[in-house]
Amino acid sequence: MKSNKKIIDKLNSLLTGELTAADQYMTHSRMLEDFGFSVLHKRLDNESKDEQEHADILVKRILFLEGKPDLGSRNEMSIGDNVEAMFKNDLTLEYQVADHLREVIAFCEQEQDYVTRHLLVLLLKNTEEDHMYWLEQQLGLISRVGLQNYLQSKM
Ligand SMILES: [Fe+2]
Ligand SMILES: [Fe+2]
Repeated sequence: MKSNKKIIDKLNSLLTGELTAADQYMTHSRMLEDFGFSVLHKRLDNESKDEQEHADILVKRILFLEGKPDLGSRNEMSIGDNVEAMFKNDLTLEYQVADHLREVIAFCEQEQDYVTRHLLVLLLKNTEEDHMYWLEQQLGLISRVGLQNYLQSKM
């Protein structure tokens, strides 16, 4: 099904954001594994896989709309050198992704592409209720119980 080029371009730009998030989570996850925080390593590894799934949804939709998915582009990553910095950088990235999704959702509404809009709302729901919420919780726990106590429970 043919779509307009603007929607394809916007979906490709969202795709770049998802692939960047997948790479950033993967990097943090492997660093956490190296630090010995196996609980956090597994969690961030799952986040990375979720982002790959989001990317996959976008790739399939772009192909369906007869566009060309761009899997080669990335935004700049923000790698933290300690656990708290990793979480803060990941949360900033999730906020950016969510804002970007909202903007493209509004554009799809305007262009009456309701099915793409629906898919993006599902990505936004997962971003808000899973990734953002979990990171906000972890940063909240760190400020409540202290970094050392928090980290002790994540080995
Ligand atoms: Fe995502
Ligand atoms: Fe995410």
